[in-house]
Parts: sequence; structure tokens; C-alpha cells
Amino acid sequence: MRLLLSALATTLACFHLADAAVNAGAADAMDGMQNALDIQREQMTRMSNLMSSAKSPPGGPAKGSTITFKNPAAKKFEVDGTKIPLVNFDAGPSWSGLMPISGAKNETRKLFFWFWPANNPADTKDLIFWTNGGPGCSSLEGFLQENGPICKPIHFYNPAWSWGQAAPTPNPFSWTNLSHVLWVEQPVGTGFSQGNATISNDDELAAQLMGFLEQFLDVFSELKGNNLWLTGESYAGFYVPYIANWIYEHPGLDLNLKGIWIADPSLSYGLVQQEIPALRFAQANKNLFPFNSSFWAQLQQISDECGYTDYLDKFVTYPPAGQLPLVATNGTFTVTPNCRMHSPIQRAIGLLNPVFDVYRVSDTFPNLWSVLGFPRATQEFIYFNRTDVQDAIHAPHIEWQSCTDNTVYINPLTGGPGRDTSIPSTLSVLPNVIDKSVRTVIVHGLADFILIAEGTRIAIQNMTWGGAQGFHTPIENETFTVKNMGVYGNMHTERKLTYVEFFFSGHMTPQFVPWAAYNTISYLLGRQPSPST
Ligand SMILES: *[C@@H]1O[C@H](CO)[C@@H](O)[C@H](O)[C@H]1NC(C)=O
Ligand SMILES: *[C@@H]1O[C@H](CO)[C@@H](O)[C@H](O)[C@H]1NC(C)=O
Ligand SMILES: *[C@@H]1O[C@H](CO)[C@@H](O)[C@H](O)[C@H]1NC(C)=O
Ligand SMILES: *[C@@H]1O[C@H](CO)[C@@H](O)[C@H](O)[C@H]1NC(C)=O
Ligand SMILES: *[C@@H]1O[C@H](CO)[C@@H](O)[C@H](O)[C@H]1NC(C)=O
Ligand SMILES: *[C@@H]1O[C@H](CO)[C@@H](O)[C@H](O)[C@H]1NC(C)=O
Ligand SMILES: *[C@@H]1O[C@H](CO)[C@@H](O)[C@H](O)[C@H]1NC(C)=O
Ligand SMILES: *[C@@H]1O[C@H](CO)[C@@H](O)[C@H](O)[C@H]1NC(C)=O
Repeated sequence: MRLLLSALATTLACFHLADAAVNAGAADAMDGMQNALDIQREQMTRMSNLMSSAKSPPGGPAKGSTITFKNPAAKKFEVDGTKIPLVNFDAGPSWSGLMPISGAKNETRKLFFWFWPANNPADTKDLIFWTNGGPGCSSLEGFLQENGPICKPIHFYNPAWSWGQAAPTPNPFSWTNLSHVLWVEQPVGTGFSQGNATISNDDELAAQLMGFLEQFLDVFSELKGNNLWLTGESYAGFYVPYIANWIYEHPGLDLNLKGIWIADPSLSYGLVQQEIPALRFAQANKNLFPFNSSFWAQLQQISDECGYTDYLDKFVTYPPAGQLPLVATNGTFTVTPNCRMHSPIQRAIGLLNPVFDVYRVSDTFPNLWSVLGFPRATQEFIYFNRTDVQDAIHAPHIEWQSCTDNTVYINPLTGGPGRDTSIPSTLSVLPNVIDKSVRTVIVHGLADFILIAEGTRIAIQNMTWGGAQGFHTPIENETFTVKNMGVYGNMHTERKLTYVEFFFSGHMTPQFVPWAAYNTISYLLGRQPSPST
């Protein structure tokens, strides 16, 4: 960019000089553009090498599996890795299907799972559980687009197929390169899962998930005794800490829970993770939020009046001075209408950038299409809605939705649709989970606007764990690095809690910066001493 600008300046400066000088300016400008093109080509080659690095693991592609199951009941869950529709490479063995949440004969509630063995025989003592959020969003989205072995990373720079990939490719940053992985569509009401929702909080959700895991281990009993790592994204900031807490408080599951990892998690109120940091986020990303000056002034006025402007500087100190106050709520947890900041910004930017993506604010026209139809349906078919796909993975023939239109919680008084009545995890179960775990990792993408990283900082500073409130020393800038790439964000660890912020990443961190997310999982599992490489 700098090269191009200086070339342009030279051209303009020469405008009134002789033809020769103008031609020299033009030549210089062309050199500048040629340089830029060359650098872009180098970058494409580097990316291509990076993405193909795992295509040929030492000893060639895995044949067979790092684990086999003796129970005859496992047989009907087997998936043939050569017969997954549209996947034109041998994805290897895996197991999927519906598993009831209890052993009761009349049990009608079943969760859909897809289990993939670890690539490497050395990694078979670990089991990662993954859930997407929502509530009601399918973990198959994580499987296909984020951390699974067959992946469609949107950023893959394939010169022949720009904007979104047209075919699946092996994912070198699949978490199966570190551990066995179990993707589960939960709670009941999500994706292919069967039966009617019966829960109204996340303790009940956790009890059902634990019931599912017990049934799962009955069939896949070779996994018993494994280390268990619970991971998830977004609303899984509720799910995962509650499930972990339930497992810690109800011993008996034949897995050894060791820690959790949550990405761009819902940890607190909308006030904290959306409203307070929204204007600061837009200001810090001004090129992507090019508002007119009267709108900026209007937002600034709301921010000043509602107590947002100096909130971070005043209260998010290291260590914190005390409990962090609620502002703009008038005694409830809900922001008063005149103090809404996040929605007006999202609405206004959506007018200027019609494909604005609240999950990754750097998206611009045109839409990248997604084979899962999320966040925007711009695709002819939805992969998991195809009957050939459903047959290949033992899924029911139903209209699969990435995120269900229906609520997965009920109102316990009426039995009708309801809402999660759980208290956010930072103010309830998460401290206990951190204390009981070997490691807890929270990560957040800095280009995520549906939940904002600075809001996660507020939530952490207001949490009391390990005998104290918040981090006691500041999160230093430029402390997270990725090998061969460089500084990739910020990180901090205290009292067994690690927090990492990723540059560039939108909401789905394993999708947008798979190299960065992979390192934090490797760290979680104790395979590397720091998330940085
Ligand atoms: C199954 O039957 C038991 C005992 O009859 C009953 O309490 C339970 O609610 C039933 N479960 C379902 C899912 O229908
Ligand atoms: C996957 O695992 C293999 C074997 O341990 C390793 O050589 C490779 O670098 C790993 N891939 C990534 C992306 O780290
Ligand atoms: C789910 O609820 C519907 C409507 O209340 C009912 O008709 C159906 O039998 C229930 N299904 C199961 C599997 O319990
Ligand atoms: C901070 O935590 C306290 C409870 O520990 C809670 O009362 C308060 O509302 C929280 N503040 C924010 C901003 O979440
Ligand atoms: C809270 O309520 C008071 C009294 O109704 C009102 O004057 C004030 O503006 C409200 N504060 C906010 C932040 O909406
Ligand atoms: C400035 O932006 C706001 C928010 O989108 C809009 O309502 C207003 O019409 C804009 N003003 C002008 C002059 O375009
Ligand atoms: C899902 O598949 C069914 C049956 O093939 C079809 O009727 C429906 O339109 C599909 N839905 C979507 C969103 O693709
Ligand atoms: C850290 O980076 C942020 C964002 O770029 C900046 O606003 C802040 O001043 C930096 N902090 C320090 C201590 O340098």
C-alpha cells in the first residue's frame, strides 16, 4: 500500500513536467503495482503451502484408525470415509448417529454426534468434546467449517475458486491432529437431535449431556478413562462451564475432565459484552465503520450519557478496585432503550455495507457463500439437508437447520417455549470450574462484533476465582505470537485462567484463524507450554 501511494504521489508531482518525466512517473507507478502483485503472489504461495502442509502426514495418509471399538453396537455408527458426499478424498474412519440421553426404555430424546479418532496414535488418551452455541446452533457447523478434518476455511486463498470454496479440502488445523474429537448437536431440539425440549436451564442441559455421554461410553467403551476437554463457542460460554461444573459436582462419569476452552463466549449480560464496548469497537475500526459525522456525534452523546465512554478506563483496572457497576440499566440487567448502542451501530453499518457480517466485521461485498446457509443463505443446497449426506452419517431425514428456529428451552410453568434461566457463567459456575480444572482457556476474535472482546475483558475483571477478583496485572499488547507469522494478538494467564485475543478473527475463531485457535487447543491439552509458538 505504501509503495502504491508513493508511486502515485510521484506521478502527480510530475504532472506539469515534460513528457519524459511523466513517462518516468508512469513507469514508476507500474513498478509499484507490479511489486504489489508479486507480493500478493508470494503470499498466495505461502498460504497454499500452509494449507497443504498436512495433506501428506509422515508415512502417508492414515489408513485404518487409531482406535477400534469391540462392542457390536458400535458397528451401526461406522461412517465410510470414502463415501461422504462431495468429499473427494478418503477422510478416514469415523462414527456418527443418534444416541439417547438415558438408558430408559421409553427414552425419546436423542442427541446426534460425530466422533473422529485422533490422527496420531500418541494422542489417543485425550477426548475433546465440541459444541456450538446459539442457543440451538448445530455443532456440525463447527465440524464442517471450523475445527473438523474436512473443512471449508473461507480464507483459503485458492486462485481458481475465489470467495468461499467450491469443494471441501482436508484441514491441516483439524483438532483431530491433537486428540479424539466428539462433535455433539445439543441440547435436544438442535440439528438432527430428536425429541422434545424439556429443559429450562443449563444444569438440566448438563444433566442431559452427561446422560448422553454415559450412553455413548457404553457403546464406545474403549474411550473410558480418557482425559476429557470441553470446548465450544459463543453461547457455549453458558453451556460448557455449566456442563463442566455438573460433571465436577456429580462424579461418576467414566472420563477424566481436565479443562475447558471457550471462544468468543457469552459470559455476561448484553450490557457488558455488547453495549458498553460497541462504540469503542467502531471507533477502533473506523475504516470499516465509516459513519457520517452527525451520526458519530449522536453515538458519542449516548455513550457519554449512559456511562459507557469512560467505563473501561475507570473500572477495568488491574487489579480491579471492586465489583464492576451496572450502568444504563436502572436496576435490572436490561439496558434502557435510550442507551442502546450496539443495535443502532449494526443497523447503520448494514446500510453502508449491505453484506456487513456481525460475526466478522471485515467482510465486504460480495457475499461469501456457505454450504451450510449460515450466516446468510446464498447457496443452492444445504449440505446436511441432503439425503445422501444424511444417509452417509446415519442421520434422520429431516430438514436440518444450522440454527433452529425453535427454542431449545421450555417455560417450566407452561411447558411451552421458554428461555434459559441460568445466571451467566462468570457470575455463577465458571470460578468453580477454573479452580477444579488443570487449565481454562478463553479466546476472543478482535473482529467479532456480535460479542466484543473488550466486553469479555470486563466480564473477566468482574469475576472472582482462585481466591481473588480479576487479573491482577494488565493484559499486555502483542504477547501472543504464531510461528512463521508473528505477533497475532494479546494473551495473559493468572490463577489457571488463560485469555487470548486473536487479530483478524471474527466470531468463529477456528474458522477464521485456524492456526491461532489450534495453538490454544494444543496449549489446553498440555502439548505446548504457552499458546504462543
Ligand atoms: C418414561 O417412563 C418413566 C416411568 O414410567 C417416566 O417417569 C418418564 O417420564 C418417561 N420418560 C419419557 C421420556 O417419556
Ligand atoms: C499434525 O500432527 C503431526 C504429527 O504430530 C505434526 O507433524 C503436524 O505438524 C501437525 N499439524 C499441525 C498443523 O500442527
Ligand atoms: C413432542 O411434542 C409434541 C407436541 O406436544 C407431541 O405431539 C409429540 O408426541 C412429542 N414427541 C415426543 C417424541 O415426545
Ligand atoms: C459484577 O459482579 C457482581 C457480583 O459479583 C454483580 O452484582 C454485578 O452486577 C456485576 N457487574 C457487571 C457489570 O456485570
Ligand atoms: C433511569 O430512570 C430515571 C428515572 O426514571 C431516568 O431519569 C434516567 O434517565 C434513567 N436512566 C437511564 C440510563 O435510562
Ligand atoms: C448519517 O447516518 C445516519 C445513520 O445511518 C443516518 O440516519 C443519516 O441520515 C445520515 N446523514 C446523512 C446526511 O446522510
Ligand atoms: C431441505 O430438503 C428438503 C427435502 O429435500 C427440501 O424440501 C427443502 O427445501 C430443503 N431445505 C433447504 C433449506 O434447503
Ligand atoms: C494496546 O493496544 C491498544 C489497541 O491498539 C491501544 O489502544 C493501547 O493503547 C495499547 N496499550 C498499550 C499499553 O500500549
